[in-house]
Amino acid sequence: MAQGPRDDHQHRHGGTAPVLVIVPTYNERENLAPILRRLHDSLPDAHALVVDDGSPDGTGQLADELAADDERVHVLHRTEKAGLGAAYIAGFRWGLAREYNTLVEMDADGSHAPEDLPRLLDALGDADLVIGSRYVPGGSIVNWPARRHVLSRGANIYTKLTLGVRINDITAGFRAYRRAVLEKLALDEVVSAGYCFQIDLTWRTVRAGFTVVEVPITFTEREIGESKMSGSIVREAFLRVAGWGLRHRADQLRRLLRR
Ligand code: GDD
Ligand code: MN
Repeated sequence: MAQGPRDDHQHRHGGTAPVLVIVPTYNERENLAPILRRLHDSLPDAHALVVDDGSPDGTGQLADELAADDERVHVLHRTEKAGLGAAYIAGFRWGLAREYNTLVEMDADGSHAPEDLPRLLDALGDADLVIGSRYVPGGSIVNWPARRHVLSRGANIYTKLTLGVRINDITAGFRAYRRAVLEKLALDEVVSAGYCFQIDLTWRTVRAGFTVVEVPITFTEREIGESKMSGSIVREAFLRVAGWGLRHRADQLRRLLRR
């Protein structure tokens, strides 16, 4: 019998230990059913875990209704809007407590195309974390305002300079993790609440020695509903990355002086 990645491949397509696609939601009532339908058209065996933060628009109830009709759909209800990072950590814990070998992050608003998932999962054969990247050849963004382009490019340049990582789209939210990565990382130490959670986990993954690969995707801005991006999310990212960078550079300096 083949070992390692081949086994994973069989699990992915054989249906014994399906892929878990975690979909965080806050006021995504109109987007939820279409995105789950596209997910299952693309990957019929995948399970979805909707992590809803008590959306006032009733996304959580709709998720329950969809789950009642489809055993591949699961729902995790949280009581208040506590940020994307906290939602994903809860989702990872839920998945790790069950027998999923691959845990995927995907937005509910259609910005991440479920049709790209087979390509992301194939790339996981040679990597521990696959990032659906807007900033590698073939990647792109559709319908973003100039403000978001500047913010996203700026965040990536700032993070590259501060942490010295060679990843082009470190804030990306369309990803596939091998179970082993999430088992190894100390998830209870992750306090990033907002979108800097993506940088946080990538940084931990890189430092733990895992392999990260970027696969090009097209990110299409949502047509329905609103982005939850905010000034406080940007500030949190800026400050946390600065903190990680200082610690990293101090470590480098210490190693240099010891030689
Ligand atoms: N449960 C929960 N709680 N879900 C949330 C929360 C929250 O506090 N905040 C956002 N979400 C959900 C949204 O409902 C959506 O499904 C997904 O997370 C992404 O949120 P958006 O608000 O649409 O993000 P965006 O389009 O502005 O940002 C995207 O690009 C960023 C990088 O530029 C996301 O993919 C980010 O993860 C990514 O960092
Ligand atoms: Mn969005």
